[in-house]
Amino acid sequence: MKQQFRNVSIASAVVLSVLNLFGTSASAADETLRGAAGDKMLIGTAIMASDLADPGQAALISQQFDCITPGNEMKPDALQNVKGTFTFEKGDAIVAFAQAHDMKVVGHTLVWHNQSPAWLYADESGKPLPRDQALANMKDHITKVVQHYKGKIIGWDVVNEAISDKPAEYLSDTPAHKAIGDDYIVKAFQFAHEADPDAQLYYNDYNDEQPEKLAKCVRLLKELKDAGCRVDAVGIQGHWMMEWPPAQTIDDAIAAYEKLGVKVNVSELDIDVLPRNTTGAEITATEKSGIDSFKSGLPSELAQKQADRYRSFFEVFAKHPGAVARVTFWGTHDGTSWLNDWPVKGRTNHPLLFGRDLKPKPAFDAVIAALGASK
Ligand code: G3I
Repeated sequence: MKQQFRNVSIASAVVLSVLNLFGTSASAADETLRGAAGDKMLIGTAIMASDLADPGQAALISQQFDCITPGNEMKPDALQNVKGTFTFEKGDAIVAFAQAHDMKVVGHTLVWHNQSPAWLYADESGKPLPRDQALANMKDHITKVVQHYKGKIIGWDVVNEAISDKPAEYLSDTPAHKAIGDDYIVKAFQFAHEADPDAQLYYNDYNDEQPEKLAKCVRLLKELKDAGCRVDAVGIQGHWMMEWPPAQTIDDAIAAYEKLGVKVNVSELDIDVLPRNTTGAEITATEKSGIDSFKSGLPSELAQKQADRYRSFFEVFAKHPGAVARVTFWGTHDGTSWLNDWPVKGRTNHPLLFGRDLKPKPAFDAVIAALGASK
């Protein structure tokens, strides 16, 4: 059973007193996301190991959230950039922090085409490796990483963003796909399960609530199940915007995944307040320039509009009790969000529940209220 009220560390208590001194509302200071969510779902945040060096952030993370997803520290290039040399230090530091604060850890990610060293699936000239060599590299990476974190991680985003954005293409032709073929995803799930039979296994993607990608994702999940793979949940990343997508699209997608018998992790939630031409989260989709209107802060009417958006999403999650296992925000406060640099570098974005001063925004109160109101 999820612990609703925990011992708040001395550091957290100090932060709370400081917040009170500055007149933060009682609801914001007293309630926590994890407390409000209770047993309904886990509430997580993505962090970087360096965030933990800041006592204010560390206190906020441990006070508010049930679980942590390392934002970069468990990706293939972070753990095995050089073949055979594993660098677990930063990932281990995050796990140690989580354990010290009664938090869970989600592993992200074992197979991805970004932040992955070329040698895994290609030779020095960039040519795809023969299938057996690519499979051996994949198996070795997954086995050693999953075994290292066995018992310390609740589950893994086994494969990330494998489905193509091109309407006529099913899977993207990534280095792993080129070398191994369509069944590289089945193989990754099998290797992960062999390495830790108790770990939950997830497929994670962006825009997989959108009808076209949803259909491909349902196909993939069925193929994984038909091949006998363990699949606990699908990650809908949730890199959403003020006007996109309609809440109904998310509602329909959760219902479709529920029908398939897999849980949903809303795995990377944020609400972008700046205009962009790209939806989703393909990191290479850079835009050269873009409006940067909120450098000195988000106007209160927009902060309220964002709060209403967050509320509407959590109301959708509540319509499917038990279907949404976890909601993880992609960052703890606005200052560390990846959206300050994507798709336009160096903007000032405000996509999360806490501001750069670590104080709760109206969106925080809206999420607390929606969680409290749900059954
Ligand atoms: O580590 C280097 C540092 O040495 C260097 O000084 C600095 C200069 O820019 O770059 C640092 O690397 C950056 C890395 O984050 C660590 O901060 C990379 O440039 C930057 O591209 C990288 O961005 C990450 C991005 O994935 C890359 O794909 C974001 O932090 C991370 O939040 C983001 O997360 C992804 C999920 O894994 C999958 N879904 C989409 C989501 C958002 O892109």
